[in-house]
Amino acid sequence: MKIAIGADHGGFDLKKTIVGILKALGHDVTDFGCHGTESVDYPDFAEKVAIGVSEGIFERGILICGTGIGMSMAANRFPNVRCALCHNLYTARLSREHNDANILAMGGRVIGAGIAAEMVKVFLETAFEGGRHTRRLDKINAFNRC
Ligand code: RB5
Repeated sequence: MKIAIGADHGGFDLKKTIVGILKALGHDVTDFGCHGTESVDYPDFAEKVAIGVSEGIFERGILICGTGIGMSMAANRFPNVRCALCHNLYTARLSREHNDANILAMGGRVIGAGIAAEMVKVFLETAFEGGRHTRRLDKINAFNRC
């Protein structure tokens, strides 16, 4: 799967771990940075990943900052992006089954690498359920007020 990933300094360490896992699983990973622990601005990285997913260049995206909050807020400003901030396996699974999320946001200062790695696998492997959830996503798409 073609996957875009980005992080700020708060998510840099976790991003390194996740990139390694994704590559070991055979995914085609594009790492948009950041590439160190110096302080940077999370919207700059959210933008790169969100544009790639919005334009269909990447099937999924992963964004990591300290809490995941800023990344999810920024990414959801882009058309076709459904970025879900998740903290556990339940929210990662439901973000796909009910929300057809195409970007997973996580907090590098909130969750450990072990749970994050399992969340990423669930996020990539779980299918959207469709049905009533499609109707609800259509309602979100109709807002277009940004
Ligand atoms: C950076 O200190 C922190 O604000 C950022 O990583 C993120 O948590 C924002 O939502």
